[in-house]
Amino acid sequence: MVAAAGSGRRMGTAESKVFLPLAGAPVLVHALRALEAAGSVGRVVVVAREEDLGRVRRLAEAYGLGKVGAVVAGGPERQHSVARGLEAVSPGTDVVLVHDAARPLVSPALVEATAAAAARSGAALAAVPVKDTVKVVEEGRVVATPDRGRLYAAQTPQAFRLELLREAFARAETCGRRATDEAALVEACGHAVEVVPGEDTNIKITTPVDLRLAEQLLAERQGRTAAGAEVRVGAGFDAHPLVPGRRLVLGGVEIPHEAGLAGHSDADAVAHAVIDALLGAAGAGDIGGWFPDSDERYRDADSLALLRRVVEALQGQGWQAVNCDVTVVAERPRLAPYVGAMRARLAACLGVGPERVSVKAKTTEGLGFTGRREGIAAQAVVLLARVGRPEQGGVP
Ligand code: CTP
Ligand code: MG
Repeated sequence: MVAAAGSGRRMGTAESKVFLPLAGAPVLVHALRALEAAGSVGRVVVVAREEDLGRVRRLAEAYGLGKVGAVVAGGPERQHSVARGLEAVSPGTDVVLVHDAARPLVSPALVEATAAAAARSGAALAAVPVKDTVKVVEEGRVVATPDRGRLYAAQTPQAFRLELLREAFARAETCGRRATDEAALVEACGHAVEVVPGEDTNIKITTPVDLRLAEQLLAERQGRTAAGAEVRVGAGFDAHPLVPGRRLVLGGVEIPHEAGLAGHSDADAVAHAVIDALLGAAGAGDIGGWFPDSDERYRDADSLALLRRVVEALQGQGWQAVNCDVTVVAERPRLAPYVGAMRARLAACLGVGPERVSVKAKTTEGLGFTGRREGIAAQAVVLLARVGRPEQGGVP
């Protein structure tokens, strides 16, 4: 669920802050894209102001946000809005995740991590340790300095088992409890809330300076950087034999077929080509060096997990993928029905929107090993960007 029904008073603009343009799309659209890219999110309920309902529906349509399944009117305070949103959550939903439209920089990985934690423990929120020392102030004077070591700043996403969140809202309603986040209502029921490490970049757009910061961060992420950005391109290739009795996994998507790819890991040639393209761009070796096929840990490994590890390592060096273009060469099966899912899964790993990942399927018209259906090959090209680290080389 995305809470977007605020008026954005502190932003001070005539228009609600969730519709303000940010890196070429409204703030709200960025938040929705992160949910779109998160594989575990099935359906999205957007809570908006009554007068904005039509506008949100049009945006969802225009930006191809297919998961948006309901757009409902919010209430005077965030808690009312989330309560209205809860009414529109599909019955039978296991975990409901609440995210602020005002946090457009959230990564799909944080959405996944929070949802997974809630599925495990019932309740979870993203939070970061506070960096500043916090003072309790009354009438202009400090009255207390809480121990900073125990203080965390709550972010969204926050996620809960549906029945737990419903119960927390019902109880809050009965006793008139007000809170600025859902976790507080769940805590008040005595249920433990797990903390998932949040992201420093997952800022809440509250005042105009936040919008400027978000613009900068997104510019870096998208490689749209002004002066000083370093960009590097990398190419990857992989091929595996098709054999009966193996699963066929391409781009993290399992595809029903009479044969699957043989290899030490799950033999996902698409993921392997993308990994090699990333490593190539960063000058950081190749997949065989990172995940040797002599290593038993990688037997039948989920190649998307390997991809995520590479992305994390490169992010640690300041690299962010800008886009990725893949060609899969397979005579059979027909891959078109799976291309959308592959794009979404690869994009989630790369930390970009699915519109930045392209997957194209080709045949070789019967020629060569792919044409004879003896194997499947994949090629990938990736662009990486980073800002402000000219002194650093590749990942060792
Ligand atoms: N929100 C909501 N319904 C409300 C109030 C807030 O859905 N009645 C949403 C906002 O749209 C935002 C999130 O809750 O995505 C966090 O709220 P906040 O940052 O406080 O946004 P606003 O309330 O819009 O801003 P302000 O407090 O400055 O008016
Ligand atoms: Mg508010």
